[in-house]
Amino acid sequence: MKKVMTVFGTRPEAIKMAPLVRELESREGLESLCCVTAQHRQMLDSVLDAFDLTPDFDLDIMEPRQSLYTITAKALLGMERVLAQAKPDLVLVHGDTSTTFAGALAAFYAQIPVGHVEAGLRTYDRYSPFPEEMNRTLTGDLCALHFCPTAANRDNLAREGITQGVYLTGNTVIDALKTSVRKDFAFQTPLLNQLDYAGRKVVLITCHRRENYGAPMEHIMTALRRLARDCPEAEFVYPVHLSPVVRETAHKHLDGLANVHLIEPLDVLEMHNLMARAYLVMTDSGGLQEEAPALGKPVLVLRRETERPEAVAAGTVRLAGTEEEQVYAMGRELLENRSEYDKMARAVNPYGDGRACGRIADAVEYYFALRAAPPEEWRYG
Ligand code: UD1
Ligand code: UDP
Repeated sequence: MKKVMTVFGTRPEAIKMAPLVRELESREGLESLCCVTAQHRQMLDSVLDAFDLTPDFDLDIMEPRQSLYTITAKALLGMERVLAQAKPDLVLVHGDTSTTFAGALAAFYAQIPVGHVEAGLRTYDRYSPFPEEMNRTLTGDLCALHFCPTAANRDNLAREGITQGVYLTGNTVIDALKTSVRKDFAFQTPLLNQLDYAGRKVVLITCHRRENYGAPMEHIMTALRRLARDCPEAEFVYPVHLSPVVRETAHKHLDGLANVHLIEPLDVLEMHNLMARAYLVMTDSGGLQEEAPALGKPVLVLRRETERPEAVAAGTVRLAGTEEEQVYAMGRELLENRSEYDKMARAVNPYGDGRACGRIADAVEYYFALRAAPPEEWRYG
């Protein structure tokens, strides 16, 4: 049996790695081990509960208002112990968080090969998203296997000279989404059962990126406040990330408006089912940019750039930036101009077909010579 250790620590990594853990567990020649850094605590545990996952190792590193230094150092030291004890044959990390980079670096120091799930996303601006662009670039250099969601991601790696061990798989988030959205879903959060999704325009908001801390986030929140005042027929639902910086800014600008609902982070099943019923998504999240297009929901991205240009090209995602006037104007247009809205509200799946985890597990088996052929590549369009 070859031991494959998945390593993750934040909410989005957990959502995107959970279906892969299940897939690895189903393979006879592989032993699946799961290590969480718990860079996020409550938001990670919520995902573990939703997918009924129990990690084999939990580094429990989260601190309030943690810095990039503490996350990286604590994850690296924790991983040293876990790798020495578990001795995996392969480590799999996901995406671009500090856990991703520290996990890959720790495995490299132990001379254990690493596979990167969600490889090859780039903006080519090292400070945006920060620190994610550098995390994923450095992780790419450390890895032996690279699982790219899209052809553009694979092309990015090729430009950096990474051509070996690269697989085009689609994004595992689409695998997760296929199991979570249900027509008859009953929400636990009372507000979400009470909302009139047919009669009111429900705008789903999230915002948390570090490079948006400070002035950009203030501008975004001011724009959202103006939108809520000027569009009383819409309901704005904002599950607020647990980062204290985000919470302070969101409450400062958005408290006290009858059609703005600042609520606690949602569990992933509630989030996916809310998105499926929403009218519009306004977000700086990476994951939401991938999920909403699959559900046919227009997205305004609250950032200056995106490493996910595929849905922009498909027409369902637009970059709104972080300037107050532009965020306000683009939001208002989609709330009031039906034909502009209809142009964007089409279900497209540039990020996957829901079978990414099977391809990744096949590639892992191929790497260990447990299978004769590499996986079939995923193709979009
Ligand atoms: C992290 C990732 C980011 C990812 C995001 C997903 C890094 C540097 N950043 O950013 O790439 O998009 O997760 O959400 O890896 N907190 C809690 N409980 C939780 C989670 C967070 O209290 O369950 C609070 C803590 O005070 C923590 C702070 O939020 O210190 C920030 O968490 P952190 O992981 O450092 O940054 P994120 O902005 O969440
Ligand atoms: N999400 C969730 N509850 C929330 C907000 C987000 O379950 O209250 C999910 C969302 O559906 C997506 C992932 O978390 O799958 C995105 O996480 P986040 O925006 O924190 O990080 P990013 O994707 O930007 O790294």
